[in-house]
Amino acid sequence: PTIGIVIPAAGRGTRAGQGCQKAFRRIGGDTVLNRVLKLFRSWNTNCPIVIVHHADDISLLEASIDRDSNIHTTTGGVERQASVLQGLRFLSSLPKSPSHVFIHDAARPFASHSVIPAIAVSDTLKKTDSNGLIQATVPRDGLFRAQTPQAFKLQTILRLHEIAATSTSSYTDDASLLEEAGLPVRIIQGESRNIKLTYSSDFEEGERLLRANSP
Ligand code: C5P
Repeated sequence: PTIGIVIPAAGRGTRAGQGCQKAFRRIGGDTVLNRVLKLFRSWNTNCPIVIVHHADDISLLEASIDRDSNIHTTTGGVERQASVLQGLRFLSSLPKSPSHVFIHDAARPFASHSVIPAIAVSDTLKKTDSNGLIQATVPRDGLFRAQTPQAFKLQTILRLHEIAATSTSSYTDDASLLEEAGLPVRIIQGESRNIKLTYSSDFEEGERLLRANSP
């Protein structure tokens, strides 16, 4: 198989505060997005990488990454799902379009070389009503928190995203589209350090992770 990478980075990052899209914020001296690029480049030096960004972020993006000739950029959509679709279309339109794709959130710079990772849920889970009052405790057996990267055959996930774009359903990860189509998806053990940077406190946690790992 040949591999391409799609990195959705077009979110507005409003939950992380500080007015700067989270992929372009620095953590441990490097931007979150550049850390993600280095992660994939340390694994494969020249596979095509498509960064999906917001139209307003072009100059921020250019200032945030070390480019090479196989790093491409395209603009995203309002939801993550729409951004992923743009990235997949771009990858599929390349002259040497790869057979498989890894889709990886820009907000997860601490992943390693694993694929479709998921972490068994260890907290007790509560379901609430719209007022935040507990309705039930959800049994956690067989429940996993999905992470990225997630890996797919490029044409399969592209086709499912094209179909999803014409419906009103919304999906927060890409494996969901295969699940709904009745296609098998295997999970592998994830890593607790592969956190998604969402809130400002996640950046503090990320800085701690980096300090704990430096010599
Ligand atoms: O918002 P959330 O943290 O779930 O976003 C996950 C990833 O999807 C982030 O890397 C974010 O930049 C990206 N995203 C996107 N386009 C959007 C919304 C989110 O590429 N419209």
